[in-house]
Amino acid sequence: MYYSEEIIEEIRSQNNLVDVVSEYVRLQRKGNSYFGLCPFHNEDTASFSVSPDKQMYYCFGCQAGGNVFTFIMQMENFSFIEAIKHLADRAHIALPQPEYSEEIRRKIEEKQVLLEIHKETAKYFYANLRSPRGQQASEYLIKRKLKENIQKLFGIGYSNMDFADLYQYLLYKGYDEELIAKSGLVIPKKKGKGYVDRFRNRIMFPIFDVHNQIIGFGGRVLDDSLPKYMNSPDTLLFDKSKNLYGLNYARTSGKNQILIVEGYMDVISLYQAGFENVVASLGTAFTHQQASLLKRYTGEVVIVYDSDTAGTNAALRAIPILSSAGLKIKVVQVPGEKDPDDYIKQNGPEAFQRLFDQAMGAVMFQVSIIRKKYNIEDTEQKIKFTMEVAQLLSKLDNEIERDVYLQEISNDTKISAQSILNEIKKYRTIQRRNTNTINQYSKKLETQPKDQFKTNQAPSTMDEKNGLYKAQKNILSFLYHNPLHYPKIKPHLSYEDFTDPVLMKVAQLMYGQYDKGLNIEPAAVINHFEGLNEQKQVSKIFGEEKNKNQEFDIEKAVNDQIKLIKKANIDKRSRNATDIYEIQSLIEQKKQLEKLYINLISG
Ligand code: UTP
Ligand code: MN
Repeated sequence: MYYSEEIIEEIRSQNNLVDVVSEYVRLQRKGNSYFGLCPFHNEDTASFSVSPDKQMYYCFGCQAGGNVFTFIMQMENFSFIEAIKHLADRAHIALPQPEYSEEIRRKIEEKQVLLEIHKETAKYFYANLRSPRGQQASEYLIKRKLKENIQKLFGIGYSNMDFADLYQYLLYKGYDEELIAKSGLVIPKKKGKGYVDRFRNRIMFPIFDVHNQIIGFGGRVLDDSLPKYMNSPDTLLFDKSKNLYGLNYARTSGKNQILIVEGYMDVISLYQAGFENVVASLGTAFTHQQASLLKRYTGEVVIVYDSDTAGTNAALRAIPILSSAGLKIKVVQVPGEKDPDDYIKQNGPEAFQRLFDQAMGAVMFQVSIIRKKYNIEDTEQKIKFTMEVAQLLSKLDNEIERDVYLQEISNDTKISAQSILNEIKKYRTIQRRNTNTINQYSKKLETQPKDQFKTNQAPSTMDEKNGLYKAQKNILSFLYHNPLHYPKIKPHLSYEDFTDPVLMKVAQLMYGQYDKGLNIEPAAVINHFEGLNEQKQVSKIFGEEKNKNQEFDIEKAVNDQIKLIKKANIDKRSRNATDIYEIQSLIEQKKQLEKLYINLISG
C-alpha cells in the first residue's frame, strides 16, 4: 500500500515536530532551536536538538536525526506505515483505505477479531478474579504478595472451574465458533461436538505484544498439581518463539539494559520491586527471534536465571544466541537455588540490586561454570580445565578481549597465561583445519556424479563475494515480486542466513511483513535505513523484476542462489566450530544442502 506524497506531506505539516517530540522529551528553547535529553541514548547533558524551522531533529551525542516520521519510527519502533497511521490519527487526518487482496484482507480481519476475543477474555478473567468465584485465587495472589495495582497493570485474572464457561461467554458475546476455536482458548470436546475451555481453575496472565495488545495467555494452577503452567498454543496472533513476556513495559522503562528471567512471576515480582526493565521467554529455550527483538530496544541484557542446573544450562544456551544478535551480556546468579521472585521477597530490592553490582560478563560466567567441574589442585584436572577454557577463549576473535580474560583467569587459578595461550593456539589451528576439511569434503561431493536433484553451481567466473551479494539481493527481489513463493522458500532460508547486514535487515523486515500476511511497502523498508548509500542499495531490490519475460529458468536460479547463500553460512560457522559434533553436523548440513531443491511451480 502506497500513500500519495501529498497525503504524507499533509500529515507531516500537520504534526509540528516540536509538539510531537515534546510528548516524549522535555524541551527548552535556546536561540532558534530546542534542546533536551536524547531519548535514544543515555545522557546527562542535553545534546538532542530540534529545529522548528527545518522540522528536523539531531542528537550531537548519538547522531540520531531525521524528521517527524523517523522520530516516531525510532521512538515507537514503528514501521513507516505505522508511523504514518499514528501521526495521521494524531492530526485527525483520514487515510484512504488500503487496497489489499481478498485473502490478505480476510486474514487481517480474522486477526482483528482474534485480538478482540483476547481482550474480551482478559476482561472476563479479570472480573472473575474479583468475583466470589475468584476468592481462592485472590487469596493465592495475596499469599504471593502481589499488590492490587500490579495485578491490575499486568491484567491478572482467573479462569473458572466450569468446563465451558469462557466458551459460552464468547458465544454469547456473538463471536463465531470457528474463530473462537482459532483463538486457542478452547479445545474440541473429546466426545461429541462443541468445545471446552483450555484454561480452568487457573490464575491467568495475559501475554501482551510490544503494542500492548493481548495475544495469548499463561495460566498457573493454585496448588502443586501439574502442569504448573499452561500457555496458549501458537495461533495467528501468538508465536512463543517470537515474543517476550513483559517487553511491552520493559521497552519503555528508560533503563539501558533489559533483565531476562525465567518465569511470569519473576517478571511481575521484579517489576513490583522497581525493576521495570524485565522480560521472560515464554517457557521455551531462548530463540534467535527473541534475541533480535530485544536488540531493537536495548544494547545490553542481564540474564537472571535460577541458579539450579536447569537455569544454568538455559543461561549457557542463551549466551551464544544473544551474543550473535550483537547484545552485550551479563549474568547474575541468584544465590541459594532460588528464583529472582523468591530472592527479592526474602531479601528485598536493595539486596537484589547488589547482585547486579557483582554481575559477571558472559565469558567469565562460562569460565566459572567450567571451573566448578574441576579441582585445579589436581594436576590432571588442572590440565583438563586449561584445555576447556582455552577452547572457549579460542572462539573469541578479539585478541585484546581474549588477553583480558586470560589475565583474569591466570590470576584466579595461578595457571600461567602463557600455557593457556598455547592451548588456545592449538585450538585455533584445529579450527582452521576443520574449515579446510569441510571445504574439501564438499568439493569432493561436487565432483561426484550428479544426482537427479543436483543443479549446476553458480558460474565459477563470478567473483565469489560479489556473487554471494548478488544472490542475496536477487532472492529478496524475487520474494518481493513473488509473495506467493514465500511459504516455500522460508523453511529453507531464514533471514539469519543472509550474510550482508543490510540485506539481512531487509530480509527480516520482509519476512516479518509476510508472516503477518501483509504486503511489502518499499518506501517503508527503505525508511529503516538512515544512510543514503544503504537506502540506494535497498531501493535496488525493489526495481523491475529481472528476467521476467525472458526464457530463463527462474526456479533453477532461485535454487542455486539459495544454496550459495547457505553454503557461505555453513562455511562461516565451520570456521568457528571447535567441537566434533558441531563439525559433524556442519558436514551433514552441507551434504543435505546438495540435495536441497525447492520446487516452485508444482508442490
Ligand atoms: P518455573 O517452574 O520456574 O515457574 O517455570 P515460576 O515462574 O517460578 O513459577 P512460580 O513462582 O512457581 O509461580 C518458569 C517458567 O517456565 C514456564 C512458565 O513460563 C514459567 O513461568 N513453564 C513452567 C511452563 O510453561 N509450564 C510449566 O509447567 C512450568
Ligand atoms: Mn517462582
